Amino acid sequence: MCARHLDKLWHKGKEFLNVPYPIMCGAMTWVSEHNLVSIVSENGAFGVLAAGNMPPETIAEEIKLTRQKTAKPFAVNLITIAPNYHQHLDLVCDMKVPYVIFAGSFPHSHEIKRVKSCGIKTVCFASADSIAQRMMEFGTDALILEGSEAGGHIGPVSSMVLLQQVLFKIKNIPVFVAGGIATGKMIAHLLLMGASGCQLGTRFVMSDECKAHPDFKEMFRKAKARDAVATPQFDSTLPVVPVRAIKNEGTARFEKLQFELLQKIQTGAITKKDAQFEVEKFWVGALRKAVIEGDVKNGSVMAGQSVGLVNEIKPIKDIITELVTDAETEVGLLIKRLED
Ligand SMILES: Cc1cc2nc3c(=O)[nH]c(=O)nc-3n(C[C@H](O)[C@H](O)[C@H](O)COP(=O)(O)O)c2cc1C
Repeated sequence: MCARHLDKLWHKGKEFLNVPYPIMCGAMTWVSEHNLVSIVSENGAFGVLAAGNMPPETIAEEIKLTRQKTAKPFAVNLITIAPNYHQHLDLVCDMKVPYVIFAGSFPHSHEIKRVKSCGIKTVCFASADSIAQRMMEFGTDALILEGSEAGGHIGPVSSMVLLQQVLFKIKNIPVFVAGGIATGKMIAHLLLMGASGCQLGTRFVMSDECKAHPDFKEMFRKAKARDAVATPQFDSTLPVVPVRAIKNEGTARFEKLQFELLQKIQTGAITKKDAQFEVEKFWVGALRKAVIEGDVKNGSVMAGQSVGLVNEIKPIKDIITELVTDAETEVGLLIKRLED
């Protein structure tokens, strides 16, 4: 596959991830298991294992299985607010995985330093400019700049603003852009803006190899961009990280849970911390229900607004080829336009 122009544009991302195509298949809890991850990496892009809320032994097994299937680079995505997070951290250090991506909330600087001291490259999410700055001060090796149109847990700021606030300013470390990306054409324009690569989630759910339940994929196929909505926060007493998912009865159930927890906090029946834990437990359980059991009515069908751009299930190899070819074509067309 010809990527002559792209090779110049995404050089930094290629070097950092040590792959031919710095396109990351973002970690998706219950979705990003060893099979999907290894196939993405084997096809020249970059796979990310989702640790989610898994018991440490399960993640260890997933890392082992990924390594059996590919010698190519991959990352493990750790959720810093997961109950087993500290065990997950010990595990990735012991197993010396090549890359760790911190998600959920934000890692402490000593955690980033510890992971780096094991020879592991670190990546942090940035969903606002102040967070990007803080993560750089903490020593992260790269950033994922994720706009609020992304699927799953999201930040407060849209990509359009983050690109101007962060991407246009950061030059010293690679920045990968995520949220709302489903086409090679878009990847080309983000590279021209200075991105070192991109991260896509929703687009990779719609692959043959993705193990999500057929009903989960069917819901993606039918959904329009406007169907992927972010959950509201009703009261600052119970801070809720918004989640973007396709609207269904599960979304309504979450709203009810929020009201119940708020009442319990007010009467002292539950602490704020435990209530927040209940919220996270809800999402992990609800996502499993939809992804694994196919209960897309009551479960959480997390998806980005990019769901409106994908309506076909394809093999991973074809998705990556299409993204790279379309991106290369777009850059070629732009060069031609400028020369004419
Ligand atoms: C079903 C689903 C589950 C996700 N789970 C995680 C996760 O466990 N950890 C994480 O860092 N991001 C998670 N994400 C976000 C993706 O890694 C990625 O950044 C996002 O999907 C990009 O936006 P897009 O869906 O518009 O491509 C999830 C996204 C989806 C759709």
